[in-house]
Amino acid sequence: MLSPENLKKVEAVRSHYPDSKAALLPALWIAQEQEGWISTDMMRYLGDLLGVTYAHVMGVVTFYTMFIDKPQGKYHIEVCTNVSCLLRGSDKIVDAVHKCTGAKPGQTSADGKFTVSEVECMGACGGAPMIAIGEEYYERLSAEKLEEILNTLA
Ligand code: FES
Repeated sequence: MLSPENLKKVEAVRSHYPDSKAALLPALWIAQEQEGWISTDMMRYLGDLLGVTYAHVMGVVTFYTMFIDKPQGKYHIEVCTNVSCLLRGSDKIVDAVHKCTGAKPGQTSADGKFTVSEVECMGACGGAPMIAIGEEYYERLSAEKLEEILNTLA
């Protein structure tokens, strides 16, 4: 369930649209900010709230990589491996993330600190190769620079 404060946010968003289905993306984002991920119970809850089927909500959650449908580590590392980043060495970044965290894309580190995902273009091609950790982008990476960044995370 959403907190009373977040429920108000969703209702405010919903009031801007003639069809409450249009409020699904921001509602999912609000739910994810609250819980850190989106459970099947939350998908059903939001579906009921907005008059959208559970199947539709699940389809949206699983389509967009920005939505997370299982518990994750404290830090979510998204490594872009699309064309520009690939040409600039994203494969080395994936290897460096694995070396530093012990996790490959799709895995969470044994200490629960890092969840690693491989993602499509994040619109920062000019800074390739890049990663995102939460809402922060780190660009023009090397294995050494990546290790320095990860070492600063508590
Ligand atoms: S290809 Fe990596 S940010 Fe665009």
